[in-house]
Amino acid sequence: MLGGAGSPREMARIKLLWMTATVAGLTNCAPNDTTSVERFVATGELVALSGAAAGAANACFTCHGLRGEGDGAFSPRLAGLDAGYLERQLIAYADGRRDHPQMGYITENLTPLERRAVSLHYAAMVEPPNGQGGSLVAQRLYHVGDTQRGLASCASCHGERGEGIGPANPPLAGQPAGYVAAQLDQWRHSKRRSDPDGAMLRISQLLSPAESAALGVYAAALPGGPPSPKSLGASPEARRGDPRSGASGPPLHVPESARAAE
Ligand code: HEC
Ligand code: HEC
Repeated sequence: MLGGAGSPREMARIKLLWMTATVAGLTNCAPNDTTSVERFVATGELVALSGAAAGAANACFTCHGLRGEGDGAFSPRLAGLDAGYLERQLIAYADGRRDHPQMGYITENLTPLERRAVSLHYAAMVEPPNGQGGSLVAQRLYHVGDTQRGLASCASCHGERGEGIGPANPPLAGQPAGYVAAQLDQWRHSKRRSDPDGAMLRISQLLSPAESAALGVYAAALPGGPPSPKSLGASPEARRGDPRSGASGPPLHVPESARAAE
């Protein structure tokens, strides 16, 4: 399956060509100049291995792993995530919509082209395999939700296998349990504000810290699997409507307090 027509790797390459063409358009190169594609791929890998202007101590691989698999604790898996999603997260760290001092410093030191190149580099990597685990409470919340609390199932947006759905809803399979729980905590305290429609803000506020921790363990162990269709839609330039996630909504979520005043 790897490398064949329609395989994730081939799809990533097609996407790479398309996105490179966009960058090439900005820098006045011929869009289908393959040497510039190769150079672009090399740039992404170089950033991952060197940390670019953020310095070698901040090379991505030191925390996210050589295969983009994450560190099993708080540094998430990057391998196989949507390139547009990754790029948007890098921008969100740089402009403060995601609060993390180290990622903030690192992303401020990357040029827009380096952010895109390193995003494509990780998007083209193969997803790592997962383990097993999780409680029954988490299993129920994940697949069924809780109608009494108005809590939609996580699976409705992130997929039954945690594989992610479309460009806006990232995979949860293979993410470290601690990272998943920490993100829910960040949303609950409005420290992560990169979610276009505030869906995760609402959801995180309906979950107890214990449930968030259990969901982290459960989501980390999901099997993942063939990524559902991904597209360029999650990229900042070409965000496309996705009724499940409100990806076409305003880029900044409005805090709950301001919503009530509307
Ligand atoms: C010192 C360790 C460290 C280094 C070096 C590092 N990261 Fe991170 N990265 C993290 C941690 C920790 C998080 C989770 C932060 C949070 O809780 O929001 C993160 C989050 C991310 C995310 C968000 C992923 C998601 O699923 O939303 C992206 C994308 C990312 N890093 C890319 C990079 C890139 C690209 C580089 C290199 C240029 C890099 N990181 C270097 C530790 C690091
Ligand atoms: C209505 C759709 C929707 C539902 C339901 C939903 N999510 Fe999300 N989730 C999203 C979107 C959209 C994002 C990406 C936000 C962004 O762009 O920063 C996301 C991101 C996340 C992330 C961050 C992943 C990363 O790589 O940083 C975690 C963790 C997460 N969701 C957990 C959950 C859990 C656990 C549930 C169930 C309790 C759930 N989500 C239910 C839409 C949803």
